[in-house]
Amino acid sequence: MLQQLLTGKEWLLKEVHHRVKNNLHTVICLLESQARYLENDALKAIESSQHRIFAMSLIHQKLYQSEDIKTIDMASYIPELTQSLQDSFETSGKIQFNIHVEKIELGLSQAIPLGLILNEAVTNSIKYAFPGEKKGNVFILMVEEKGLIKLEIIDNGIGMPHDQCKKATDSLGLKLIKGLSEDIQADFSCEAEFGTKITITFRNQDMADPERYIDANAVAV
Ligand SMILES: Nc1ncnc2c1ncn2[C@@H]1O[C@H](COP(=O)(O)OP(=O)(O)OP(=O)(O)O)[C@@H](O)[C@H]1O
Ligand SMILES: [Mg+2]
Repeated sequence: MLQQLLTGKEWLLKEVHHRVKNNLHTVICLLESQARYLENDALKAIESSQHRIFAMSLIHQKLYQSEDIKTIDMASYIPELTQSLQDSFETSGKIQFNIHVEKIELGLSQAIPLGLILNEAVTNSIKYAFPGEKKGNVFILMVEEKGLIKLEIIDNGIGMPHDQCKKATDSLGLKLIKGLSEDIQADFSCEAEFGTKITITFRNQDMADPERYIDANAVAV
């Protein structure tokens, strides 16, 4: 019934996103098979890659499940991504997650970098903020005001080494966060006073997309 209501183009796009998601899932499974032959650093690298690919595949899943095929609701995506990281690192009983995300719709070109940034920052909080038996909290906030979106990933753990925040780092995670922020013309900042706080601010490009702009105007007329 729903499919009958969709235009042919929208149906085709849904189909493409479904296939992309399935193909990415196959890549994750292939890496899983490879991982069985590996240990130590090589195994960790494969596992990190699986998480990064999952963050991307979830975007495609949300796109074909979304009513509006062109946008992803961050209020639905972020909790699901976070839950999958909590499950795979088995954080229950140790880290309490607090998520406050407004209903913010992003297009694919912003959602993919955002998903990868979140994956890196949340993974870091899980892996490093609470060593040993230490318990703590991770807060994920995303709010939009006049088209300006702010994303914060905050933990109350031991804090990132001070110079790690500011300097041009050699480690891949922070390099990715900074590089992907540049890709979406976002401001990146990082504080390590009481725990670690990563802030990304950027403009919602949604209405900058000419096709969407025309669509929106067509409805208004
Ligand atoms: N939330 C955090 N709390 C405490 N230390 C952190 C936190 N985030 C990062 N760090 C420190 O900063 C270092 C650099 O992080 P980064 O994500 O760049 O690299 P990595 O996690 O070591 O490797 P990769 O992300 O490539 O798996 C970490 O090794 C860790 O020591
Ligand atoms: Mg990392």
